[in-house]
Amino acid sequence: MGWNSWNTFAQNIDEKLIMETADKMVDNGLLAAGYEYLVIDDIWSLRARDENGRLVANPEKFPHGMKYVVDYVHSKGLKFGIYSCDGVMTCASYPASYGREFIDAQTFAEWGVDYLKYDNCYKPRTVPGRLLYHKMSLALENCGRDILFSACNWGEENVEEWIKETGAHLWRSTYDIHDNWESIKKLLWQQVGLQKYNGVGCCNDMDMLVVGMYGKGNVGFGGCNDVEYRTHFSAWAMLNSALILGCDVRNMSPEALKIVTNRDVIAINQDAAGRQPYLLCADPDSDDNSQLQVWVKHLDGGDLAIGIFNMSDYTQSPWFGFDELGLDPSSGMALVITDLWEGKELGKFIDYYRTTIEPHDCRMLRCKLVPADGGPYVCCAF
Ligand code: GLA
Repeated sequence: MGWNSWNTFAQNIDEKLIMETADKMVDNGLLAAGYEYLVIDDIWSLRARDENGRLVANPEKFPHGMKYVVDYVHSKGLKFGIYSCDGVMTCASYPASYGREFIDAQTFAEWGVDYLKYDNCYKPRTVPGRLLYHKMSLALENCGRDILFSACNWGEENVEEWIKETGAHLWRSTYDIHDNWESIKKLLWQQVGLQKYNGVGCCNDMDMLVVGMYGKGNVGFGGCNDVEYRTHFSAWAMLNSALILGCDVRNMSPEALKIVTNRDVIAINQDAAGRQPYLLCADPDSDDNSQLQVWVKHLDGGDLAIGIFNMSDYTQSPWFGFDELGLDPSSGMALVITDLWEGKELGKFIDYYRTTIEPHDCRMLRCKLVPADGGPYVCCAF
């Protein structure tokens, strides 16, 4: 969990922005909610390396050097992340780490960096990306500092099959997000099938969150409303994605801040067991499940998390039978369901759950298994 500069600021990053962002992440409760990493993305360096082949922070943006900024971020109790690429240049054409992996890892370690986002532009076509991620991982493992490795090859080259070998801690499973509903829908759909590659110590990254951007900034193409941001956040949480904020946290709307700091939803994302969620067909009559998705996840300790996402443009009334969860009547069990956005226990349910969801809205439920005998029930058998 953290914040990354790209979605809103792109090239407009500097010492002042990073220090103000660090201050705000502490003051508005983001750090306390778990957003720990402050990551600067592309366009932080000069266009040339120094005479020793080292990357240099752009002195116009970072007049006191990178270590100064990193130290400041650390002084606030946050961790610091930086960006490079496995190719000869970054996506924005700045020097990248191909052939310089070990020296760059060394530089990052000397600056006190805690996280590296490693992108995939301008890599020689003949070299398998897999080897380049192996190489940078080895460079990080041997640089003398704990640096979280965030691989970002946009889901190419069947990355899900080999990324864990490299030691990466998170890996981008999708292309770039844009701040609009279509993009959120597309990325959620792209994730179907990839959820099973998630695991403790190495999570899928469905790209940075756009919650609270409202169409402003680098990827702010159109914007979303708060209901859509809540569904976006819930889906990323439910599918175990990294939760990296991308809005200007210095000026968040109260609603956006409320969404991203909902502790019950964050707990579903950060669940210690890190199990893969699975997809139910919620509406057997629907011929387009991308429009209405019901995801279920077994949580550490035996509860179930259920996320229901109405991705369609019309109101839907999804239901599912508990037999689809493995809880047929012979189990003798019922569910006590809590709605995590309402912050309210809905009661004890038996046999099935049904609800009505407005377009683009969702439900995030936490369900506790209890003996079925002894009502009263909110929903009863058909
Ligand atoms: C790629 C990545 C983005 C961002 C940009 C920076 O597009 O996927 O997340 O890092 O490069 O240039």
